[in-house]
Amino acid sequence: MNVKVFKTQAEIAAAAADFFCEVLLKKPNAVLGLSTGSTPMLTYEALAGRSAAGLADFSAVHTFNLDEYWGIAPEDEQSYRYFMQKRLFDKVNIRPENIHFPDGLAEDAQAECARYEAELAALGPVDLQLLGIGRNGHIGFNEPAEKMRAKCFCAELAEATIKANRRFFAREEDVPRRALTMGLGTILSAKKILMIATGENKAGAVYSMLRGEISGKCPASFLRTHGDAAVLLDEYAAALI
Ligand code: PGA
Repeated sequence: MNVKVFKTQAEIAAAAADFFCEVLLKKPNAVLGLSTGSTPMLTYEALAGRSAAGLADFSAVHTFNLDEYWGIAPEDEQSYRYFMQKRLFDKVNIRPENIHFPDGLAEDAQAECARYEAELAALGPVDLQLLGIGRNGHIGFNEPAEKMRAKCFCAELAEATIKANRRFFAREEDVPRRALTMGLGTILSAKKILMIATGENKAGAVYSMLRGEISGKCPASFLRTHGDAAVLLDEYAAALI
């Protein structure tokens, strides 16, 4: 993996925005794989800035998000769909019909996962997939486990993830216990992968991803099997490598 360490989060966001702009320049109708959480916020801000400056055109782009909580409506402020609308989609010229998301309200989670996987297969592969990493090494909601899932599936959140995501909810009981997520194979089928990790609480996971064994103990370690994966870190997240 191509690892780069930066001094500031603003520098990381600018570098990440460069990745997106390069892909969009080469392929205006690129398929972008997007993620949510604290990590990509500054990148989306940078991308909105590039778009306002006429440096990034989303008019022909399709986006596929990594995951969505199960049981939460798209217009709910806690949904990842809502996060994306506020952080990026409202600020760029993307066509609403080109935004693809797992439906958190689908009654049949398995059928919804199959639908999402098929939608991605029809338009994909993803040209650039943006990822964060969980403190436990998860990517999307692919939590540490003996066996990894290849395709989109309905995941049980790990206890560590429920605790980490607690900050976005009034009470821990409110954190959804399940989510629809791309599988590891789906993620790895992206042509290019861009992982961002910042802060000392990610240092252990980053170490396991880059230096540990490639195994389900750290799902992100499988990114080392990808031919074109970049990792952008700040000095805190890079402290142990
Ligand atoms: P975070 O989440 O960016 O909010 O730390 C990342 C993740 O859990 O994948």
